[in-house]
Amino acid sequence: MESLIVADKTSLYHNTTPSSLVPNLPLNNKDGSSSTSSTTFNSYINLDQGDPVVFKEYWRKKSEECMVVIKGCELLSYLSDLRSVCWFMMPELRDAIKRLHALVGNADTNDMYIVVGNGSTQLFQAALYALSSSSSSDDPINVVAAAPYYSEYQEQTDILRSGIHKWGGDAMKYDKNEAYIEVVTSPNNPDGSIRGPVVNSKCGGEGKLVHDLAYYWPQYTPITHMASHDLMLFTFSKCTGHAGSRIGWAIVKDKEIAKKMTKFIQMSSIGVSKESQTRVAKIIEVLCDSYKNFKLGGLSKESELFFEHSRRLMMERWEKLREVTKQNSDFSVPKFPQAYCNFTNETSETYPAFAWLKCNKDEDCESYLEKKLKILVRGGNRFGSDPRYARLSLLGKDDDFGEFLKRISIDMNEFRH
Ligand SMILES: Cc1ncc(COP(=O)(O)O)c(C=O)c1O
Repeated sequence: MESLIVADKTSLYHNTTPSSLVPNLPLNNKDGSSSTSSTTFNSYINLDQGDPVVFKEYWRKKSEECMVVIKGCELLSYLSDLRSVCWFMMPELRDAIKRLHALVGNADTNDMYIVVGNGSTQLFQAALYALSSSSSSDDPINVVAAAPYYSEYQEQTDILRSGIHKWGGDAMKYDKNEAYIEVVTSPNNPDGSIRGPVVNSKCGGEGKLVHDLAYYWPQYTPITHMASHDLMLFTFSKCTGHAGSRIGWAIVKDKEIAKKMTKFIQMSSIGVSKESQTRVAKIIEVLCDSYKNFKLGGLSKESELFFEHSRRLMMERWEKLREVTKQNSDFSVPKFPQAYCNFTNETSETYPAFAWLKCNKDEDCESYLEKKLKILVRGGNRFGSDPRYARLSLLGKDDDFGEFLKRISIDMNEFRH
């Protein structure tokens, strides 16, 4: 049986087997009876990581249009634009990023500095470096985020045991009179909530903010305003699903902070692959051109526009998940308020990239799902939260998502016997 290589349980990669090998599972009928009596699962479904392959079919149709050809004599230099603070960022990528934000209306790029990074993961660390080293504090700055927070922030903050910053835990509980950096993730990973800063300013410590807006795109949430914070992080991984290109960008108000972030990236990787930058610039161009053509009455149909298509996918997955959790009271998922989206001109809900699932019958949702249903997820404690919750990705393959729905809708009483 073919299986992927495993690392340990906390790593990005679990051992998984293709879910097509999973036998048919019993599904609840409307009257409560079950359709089949199969009760074993031969393979795991991995919904632990937010690997955004859900958008692959869309991009398959755009394969030719998005193709880039790079000749052997091209892209040799480390340098891109010495007039820019971020000297390794290619001007075509900078222009594409600005064009994309202007199209979507989710972030203001006017009079801001853009810094490109190897994913927003590198930019998060660059931001911590820049903000901590600009602080007047002699002690390491506390990095905090309101629980449940993105599980990687803690390790990314502490991995080098830096003398300038350290993980400070849940921002809701932060009450020290010391300098801090609060990470505001909105929509939030893992629970999809729309957030603002929470640290009580009465604490008295000097506070700085990093806004991680990885999911502030129309397929996940209504675009309610043009964000214009001091330091905003975006990632191509979650915008279009091209996580493998490893491109993220920061939009920064203060030139000195942008310079320090650039310096950090220079020290850790002397810039960012130009092959990736070229590819991302091309994909953004194709995406924005399709909107332009549509507005001009050209070839594109509305359903073929990326954000329309991807929003429908996310909405469909959420509708199916809600239907299943409505029928099976063992599990519940959060409800989200409606808001008017300035991009789609419609009122809609948030359709987060992850479901923050609550197990109503077991204290440990992660181990319950793993042991009983062979579904790999990330438990609430990894997000500084309650183990009765677990995060599961809604960005995976159709087959895995379908299999997941089947497994959580089975009659658990029958399954236990
Ligand atoms: C909130 C948040 N920030 C940052 C990242 C990292 O993104 P990147 O692929 O750009 O490193 C992720 C990835 O899942 C995320 O969920």
